[in-house]
Amino acid sequence: MRVYLDHNATSPLLGEVVESMTRVLRDLYGNPSSVHEEGRSARAAVDRARESVASLIGVEVEDVLFTAGATEANNTALLGLARARAGTARHLVTSAAEHPSVEAPLEVLEREGWRVTRVGVDSEGQLDEAQFEESIESETALVSILWANNETGVLQPMQRVAALARERGISIHVDATQAVGKVPVDLQDVPIDFLSLSAHKFNGPKGVGCLIARGDPAFEPILCGGPQERGRRGGTENVAAIVGLGVACELAEEELPDRMHDYAGLRDRLWEGIHAKIPSVRRNGSADRMLPNTLNVEFEGVVGELLLQALDVEGIAASSGAACHSGSIEPSNVLIAMGRSPESARASLRFSVGHGNDATQLDYALSRLPDLVERARRGTRP
Ligand SMILES: Cc1ncc(COP(=O)(O)O)c(C=O)c1O
Repeated sequence: MRVYLDHNATSPLLGEVVESMTRVLRDLYGNPSSVHEEGRSARAAVDRARESVASLIGVEVEDVLFTAGATEANNTALLGLARARAGTARHLVTSAAEHPSVEAPLEVLEREGWRVTRVGVDSEGQLDEAQFEESIESETALVSILWANNETGVLQPMQRVAALARERGISIHVDATQAVGKVPVDLQDVPIDFLSLSAHKFNGPKGVGCLIARGDPAFEPILCGGPQERGRRGGTENVAAIVGLGVACELAEEELPDRMHDYAGLRDRLWEGIHAKIPSVRRNGSADRMLPNTLNVEFEGVVGELLLQALDVEGIAASSGAACHSGSIEPSNVLIAMGRSPESARASLRFSVGHGNDATQLDYALSRLPDLVERARRGTRP
């Protein structure tokens, strides 16, 4: 049996998504910029997908800019915005627990002379709102905050954070890659200027996403070329992937309440089983402010990477926040920002449920975990 519990890394495509993409690959080969019928048909498919994204997120169709995923969307928001405003402002605000696709472009900007304030999070992963408020200065061009953490699933109070930025007249970018399709993300209720999302995190294809840029703000395109995306992102559109994203958005809009309910049920079953069967375990992140599908657990005394390998051999796919660099295992910067020791961070695994999981699979994982943890503990503690 294979039990895939790594939906935050990527998620399987829904049947309707595959069918829509297959139709485009087979029949809609026109270039959306061409004026002939083939081109117009492809353009119509892209336009419909744009409407589906706009409807799910609660924005205008003109606000939706297609990208090759959230990494590009985050880079475009940060580098594009900062460069458009260079000369007027030199300061950015973010959190200490961001995804590398936000952190890395911020480091590029630091090398270009920008100052970046990284606001701390507490032991539950919640943004320090007082520190956030204090960090905003007259020189601040943009704040960028992760809506839902990919490693812990912790949700930030986006309504309050966005309102604080708005009160100060500062634009806010939000990486909502893990939130979209898992919790309600409706910008009619939240004053967010820029938002990144990625199709493959909610049962769409890889390599496509969006930057939502509300109200036609000035930014420098990162991909310079043709006039596509109203001159904001050059390059012929990946029509099949964009259509797949649109269908994933339509399904997410329809199914969100059921998904939230079902995922939370499976995730809670897993945690209750782990907690009941395995001693010395701890949940990372505040349980009541978390994505419904995510569980991050410290198995005290375990080397997470070894437990992951043992799980994989038994047919269970999970993940750790740690990245391997030339043989050494780096502890997760997110868990370190939450005040965990490097050992605790290395002993933590992420389980993320989603489409295709059921109670039988979770019970199978629970039947294998206690023994594997026990063996991993014996292996690491002579
Ligand atoms: C929070 C977050 N932001 C951005 C990304 C990058 O998304 P993409 O794979 O579409 O570039 C990911 C994916 O791991 C993520 O979890």
